[in-house]
Amino acid sequence: MSNTIVVGAQWGDEGKGKIVDYLTEKTDVVVRAAGGNNAGHTVISGGQKYVLHLIPSGILWKDKMCVIGNGVVMDPLGLLEEIAKLRGQGVSITPENLLISETAHLVMPYHKGLDKAREAKRGDKKIGTTGRGIGPAYADKVERDGLRTILMTQPEVLEEELRDRLARHNATFAELGVDLVPVEETVKTVLEAAKALAPHITNTTVYLHEAIKAGKNLLFEGAQGTYLDIDHGTYPFVTSSNTTAGGACTGSGVPPRMIDKVVAVGKAYTTRVGSGPFVTENEEIGDMLHNMGREFGATTGRARRCGWLDAVLVRYAVMLNGADELAITNLDGLDGLETIQICTAYKLRGKTIHYPPSTAADLAACEPVYETHQGWKQDLSGITNFADLPDLAKAYLKRLEELVGAKVGLLGVGPAREQTLVA
Ligand code: IMP
Repeated sequence: MSNTIVVGAQWGDEGKGKIVDYLTEKTDVVVRAAGGNNAGHTVISGGQKYVLHLIPSGILWKDKMCVIGNGVVMDPLGLLEEIAKLRGQGVSITPENLLISETAHLVMPYHKGLDKAREAKRGDKKIGTTGRGIGPAYADKVERDGLRTILMTQPEVLEEELRDRLARHNATFAELGVDLVPVEETVKTVLEAAKALAPHITNTTVYLHEAIKAGKNLLFEGAQGTYLDIDHGTYPFVTSSNTTAGGACTGSGVPPRMIDKVVAVGKAYTTRVGSGPFVTENEEIGDMLHNMGREFGATTGRARRCGWLDAVLVRYAVMLNGADELAITNLDGLDGLETIQICTAYKLRGKTIHYPPSTAADLAACEPVYETHQGWKQDLSGITNFADLPDLAKAYLKRLEELVGAKVGLLGVGPAREQTLVA
């Protein structure tokens, strides 16, 4: 038995989907424990591109169980759309390979309306949310006003609760001057979705503990990244869940002592979508990557902000998550560069610091301290053995390991499953 958590070491989009897909071969159960369909995991398998939002990427494998845990906020309409798309690509999805926790919270159409209305109200202090209703759904959960998926197995109760929420939220929308959510249409579509999804809904905590007892291997697929964590990220420019390793336990009911390994995934450079401080942001790298057709969001299609590798952030992420190992993705994105920079520390008001400060304002005031590395100027995408990497690429990774205090175990040199090298 070996249970592994995969987390993002940056601001999400680190390529976790691909790493999880790779690790799934030796796994029996893949679990999502936080976030919702704000996530977008792109996996390229057998020449086909799959984009997953709520469903763990284990779904692309035969005979693997996928679990949407209690810590997730689940949009039933979004989930059904995702299921339909995947089925259209030939993926089989049944209660035999997809279970949904009965205590996960529902994202309802009014949450999306609230998300958009709140963003509009923030003016130039926008968070840049994905507009998927994630924040308002978690807010309702914490406020103890949320609807849980178990209601999808009790249609009469669901209808009553839903009508109550629609009435209250529509009153707020009327005050804000925002479009109301159509009541009858929403009740009808949600009840239809409930019927379709009910066979998947169960007590997944019991399922996971039984799987562990039966000697099965679990893989926790992190969503978003360390710096989008509601507690440890660059608040308030964060998502509304715990995206760090601890979230995998609270979001699934699997206790910390049953976790054997944590893998932190990071890009060989840094990206972020949405607003907020980004110390190593660099427009030239952004232009280069975008011109290569890379770094556009899987969920929103937005061009991601790009910059140099920030070892200060990755080091702190390794510490926070207790990462045993690093998976570095997109190394091939740096192939064309003459020189490559790594940020090793920050200067804040004349002082050198080695950890990110706790406020977004202070982080925004930090200046990067860089060291410069010579680029390898070679196409890495065809390399299939770690040993065959050019020496300069190996030196870049070695230096990264020294700076962050964890070894590179896996390396991505392209989007396909076969372009994952074992160090
Ligand atoms: P929300 O999760 O939609 O509320 O968005 C909050 C912040 O998290 C925004 O900056 C989003 O761009 C960011 N975010 C949410 N999900 C992801 C993701 O999967 N990858 C990268 N950024 C994300």
